[in-house]
Amino acid sequence: MSGDALIFYSAFDDPAAWKKTLTAELPDLEFHTDPDAVDPARVHYALTWKPPTGFFGRFPNLKLVTNLGAGVDSLVGRDDLPDVPISRLSDTGMVSLMTSYVLFSVIRYARDIHVFERAQRRSEWKYVHPRALSDIRVGVLGLGELGGPAAEALARTGFDVRGWSRSQKQIPGVTCQAGIDTLDGFLSEVEILVILLPLTPETRGLLDAKRLARLPAGAKLINASRGAVVDEPALITALQSGAIAEATLDVFVVEPLPKDHVFWRMENVLITPHLASITVPEAAAREVAESIRRVRSGLPPLHQIDPRRGY
Ligand code: NAP
Ligand code: GLV
Repeated sequence: MSGDALIFYSAFDDPAAWKKTLTAELPDLEFHTDPDAVDPARVHYALTWKPPTGFFGRFPNLKLVTNLGAGVDSLVGRDDLPDVPISRLSDTGMVSLMTSYVLFSVIRYARDIHVFERAQRRSEWKYVHPRALSDIRVGVLGLGELGGPAAEALARTGFDVRGWSRSQKQIPGVTCQAGIDTLDGFLSEVEILVILLPLTPETRGLLDAKRLARLPAGAKLINASRGAVVDEPALITALQSGAIAEATLDVFVVEPLPKDHVFWRMENVLITPHLASITVPEAAAREVAESIRRVRSGLPPLHQIDPRRGY
């Protein structure tokens, strides 16, 4: 089947870059950004990030919806989502960016860089004897397309790495555990916690006050998934008391983080504006094109998600 059309919507991604890379892969695909400029019946594919309410209802013959990102939490709860395969982005560019963010954030704590940043502001030569990386336990919550490679890279770097997911995984160099029953024990053993879980009904608020209290005193927390996986007020309390010593936060319950939010004023919090990983169209377009080819041939797309499971 050829000559069918794709509708693109994102206030965040560059449509020109996507049009160029995607139509290079699929020259017969019509690429539209204006829903009024195309016969809705001919739109078979939607490539979108947070489109307005009712968006999908305009296109009666959709065959594939692709989320322009990895996390589908803002997509799966919509009431206009058609009953067609839903896929998300995942590509090597996105994996490399997330792995680099996690490595940077963990190493910053493991090598006491956060201590030296503050000492420098006081013009203070502050010697802290380095610790062997193999003595530092890092726990990764979520071992999917992003968490799995990040955990493996941490293990290759020399850390003592533990990983946790819903189903049991086998990752070289990583001690893996699975299921909610193992979570409390898992948390009690990690010095640096990295969160790479999707936001679903099961993971919303998963790291509440009780679970955060399971972490050893002085633990560090890195959240690069979704803000609402962590109970923010409980995290703030733990950071203020020192129960959790440091946090690196890329994601927040409300984004952009409001100017008067207490996180901005906490010296033990490093804030980055939700960019731990992004999609690079050049790499991702190949995957999106392959999904369209597969759907045209009656096959499931790549990176299909289960809307009932939420990821
Ligand atoms: P993914 O491939 O869907 O992997 C999710 C992982 O979480 C899987 O290992 C899954 O376990 C586990 N999981 C899900 N629900 C669970 C539960 N209830 N209990 C235990 N484990 C559970 O997702 P991904 O591509 O790695 O991405 C993870 C998240 O990162 C995304 O959902 C998105 O929110 C976030 N993200 C953030 C940025 C950023 O810039 N900050 C960029 C991209 C993505 P199973 O393997 O057993 O299914
Ligand atoms: C970004 O947060 C994504 O989900 O891709």
